[in-house]
Amino acid sequence: MSKILVTGGAGFIGSHTVVELQEAGYDVVVLDNLCNSSEKSLERVAKITGKEVPFYKADILDRDALEDIFSKEDISAVIHFAGLKAVGESVQKPWEYYENNIAGTLTLVDVMRKHNCKNIIFSSSATVYGNPAFIPITEECPKGQCTNPYGWTKSMLEQILSDIQKADNEWNVILLRYFNPIGAHKSGTIGENPSGIPNNLMPYITQVAVGKRDHLNVFGNDYDTHDGTGVRDYIHVVDLALGHVKALKKIEENAGLKIYNLGTGQGYSVLDIVKNFEEANGVKIPYEIEGRRPGDIATCYADPSLAKKELGWEAQYGIKEMCRDSWNWQRNNPNGYDD
Ligand code: NAD
Ligand code: UD1
Repeated sequence: MSKILVTGGAGFIGSHTVVELQEAGYDVVVLDNLCNSSEKSLERVAKITGKEVPFYKADILDRDALEDIFSKEDISAVIHFAGLKAVGESVQKPWEYYENNIAGTLTLVDVMRKHNCKNIIFSSSATVYGNPAFIPITEECPKGQCTNPYGWTKSMLEQILSDIQKADNEWNVILLRYFNPIGAHKSGTIGENPSGIPNNLMPYITQVAVGKRDHLNVFGNDYDTHDGTGVRDYIHVVDLALGHVKALKKIEENAGLKIYNLGTGQGYSVLDIVKNFEEANGVKIPYEIEGRRPGDIATCYADPSLAKKELGWEAQYGIKEMCRDSWNWQRNNPNGYDD
């Protein structure tokens, strides 16, 4: 049976996707250089699914390593998560971000085509819409100006992969634009494991809840939103993972080039998240209002109807479940995968 190569499969979204792929009956191979993850996540995936996860510790920039994997394994499609994703770091280290994300993807795609594997699902982001021209955001919404090199790598890679598909229609390319993934597998054994001070809201909240940080800084309460704090479309990572299983089915129909938003269509403010987290988990999250974070926008949420229509996918989990599962993971693993 042919296999699915998951790059970045030891990471947050990758590990959850490997679970859902294995549970849907796919044979999976993972490649990851572990620069932002731990191999333990894959051991825990294996415990959840009862299936081993074949793993190559390798870099997508390493052509020889990729050649070796594609020669040994019969890969029919690639789900490509591998990449650097810290927005602030990308401003400090733009070369490293362009090299890793863009040169890495070009190397991967070159090796894929040499081995006649022309099916790829790419992790893109709502960040490509910049300050969105309209809300809710459909896939027709024009792409905008990104505020950081990380965002540009996503926007540029969308263009590169689209051009490759247009030049050779044997390629099937699905660009998935994620909104804000949070939550964790219900087992509480895999989850998000940020190094250092979390940039994103939910890991920060869970670190406050577990006592690692004393309060949440709320970045601005003067936005044009119902309570003045930023509104986002939070999506449970298991729903996101299931979206990849559906996208793979679409690839099997020779879909050509497709772009889908993966979000719930529901916006929540920072204070809505704090309130829901407190209610779902019975813990208090002290917070202080700070100034706006540079580059932030007021409101961002999806119109996810295209994914429903064409993939038969829609988010199942609500905000309470997202808060409950984020906390369940953090509480059981206060130091993530570190003992
Ligand atoms: P993550 O950091 O947990 O996972 C990415 C994985 O890629 C890590 O395991 C890392 O070790 C690996 N990796 C990085 N560079 C590599 C390289 N050169 N070779 C091999 N492996 C490499 O991040 P995540 O949150 O799971 O994100 C997965 C993908 O989704 C990323 O491409 C990210 O940009 C994208 N994305 C994430 C979010 C989010 O909020 N988490 C939102 C939109 C898009
Ligand atoms: C961020 C990234 C975006 C990336 C997305 C993935 C920036 C500028 N953008 O977006 O490129 O694709 O994550 O999930 O970093 N907030 C606080 N206090 C905190 C952290 C966040 O108030 O400590 C607020 C933010 O101002 C925002 C909301 O919470 O209103 C969500 O923030 P975050 O989780 O960082 O996601 P995004 O800003 O949507």
